[in-house]
Amino acid sequence: MPDTFLTELYCSATGDTLPRDRLLNLSPAGKPILCRYDLEGIRGAVDRDQVAARPPGMWRWAELLPLPLTQSPVTLGEGDTPLLPAARLGRELGLPKLWVKDESGNPTGSFKARGLSAAVTMATHLGAEAFAIPSAGNAGGALAAYSARAGKPCHVFVPADTPVITQQEVIAYGGNLVRVEGLINDCGKVVAARREALGAFDVSTLKEPYRIEGKKTMGLELAQQLGWRLPDVIVYPTGGGTGLIGMHKAFAELAGLGWIDSDKRPRFVSVQSTGCAPVVRAFEAGAQHAVPWENATTRAYGLRVPGAVGDFLMLAALRETNGTAVAVDDEALLADMLVLGQLEGINACPEGGACVTAVRALKEQGWLSADDEIVIFNTGAGTKYLETLPPLPTETIKPI
Ligand SMILES: Cc1ncc(COP(=O)(O)O)c(C=O)c1O
Repeated sequence: MPDTFLTELYCSATGDTLPRDRLLNLSPAGKPILCRYDLEGIRGAVDRDQVAARPPGMWRWAELLPLPLTQSPVTLGEGDTPLLPAARLGRELGLPKLWVKDESGNPTGSFKARGLSAAVTMATHLGAEAFAIPSAGNAGGALAAYSARAGKPCHVFVPADTPVITQQEVIAYGGNLVRVEGLINDCGKVVAARREALGAFDVSTLKEPYRIEGKKTMGLELAQQLGWRLPDVIVYPTGGGTGLIGMHKAFAELAGLGWIDSDKRPRFVSVQSTGCAPVVRAFEAGAQHAVPWENATTRAYGLRVPGAVGDFLMLAALRETNGTAVAVDDEALLADMLVLGQLEGINACPEGGACVTAVRALKEQGWLSADDEIVIFNTGAGTKYLETLPPLPTETIKPI
């Protein structure tokens, strides 16, 4: 059996192949680099039931991940999050086949653990000595935790108004926190300017090839959890878009392996905030690229991404799957964050709430119907966004 089924890296825009034995960021064309696997070889080496029977965690998909099979990943037990039926919420929305893929239980409380486990694993394998990242919040904490796990320093650049806990957790994991007066794209520019002096490898989303490979495991798990079939619709809160693009890639790989029915693909719904909706605007305009959003504001901080390097890949995934893109406002998404908690007991983040609001709107418009099987992604833990949680009662009582 070969040590890896990763055959090559390639530029997502030009298709040109690139070496897989060294640290790479963007392709020479300035676009994301993707991984290609020998699906025929995987099919001969392992079947889906063997993968399903392995101990839990995203690394059980080893043949579909870039690390050589004989190497150990940098892991904290990420992945294998629950797919929860949401019957009470479904009844309220008139959508009886509603599920929530709840990512809040991942290490560091968000799906960012998957991507950063993969990126830190591969960068360490290829010789990186330190890491740098711009973060809207959750990715920074995840990088700090996985860097600590790898025994390497990291530098995390966040907008200064990012939720406080996500900043503090960087420090708690021993990362170097740098607060920037600006948005995540401003943080990205600082990373690009400083990474050489810091001797740090830039693990910005989609600016290295492997975070997407970690994120795609959400799609692999989903197929397995549903008994090797896919839902009709996937509703995903979109910032950089890595999870959406990753799941699209995962389904193509599963179909290539013959592990799912190759014809059926879920319609993808990209959810953004009305305060920062570059992908929605581009989708509606029929454009292939998104124009960066000016003055982005939203308390769903993961969605406060004015421009994404993988915009054209997201837009292609939405169109190829007959999907759509929806912008929802902050008041509604924060209310629906609490609805997920109160009706289903889910530790929902604002981004997860945004998906509920989007589903509500799409049902009203008739884009969704009671027959549709729908999976909403709750991408992180709401308890990391203290500022958005309801206030405490002002009264206290005396002990008896
Ligand atoms: C909780 C949460 N949801 C969604 C997103 C957006 O994810 P993606 O970059 O995969 O679009 C983020 C990114 O910061 C996030 O932290």
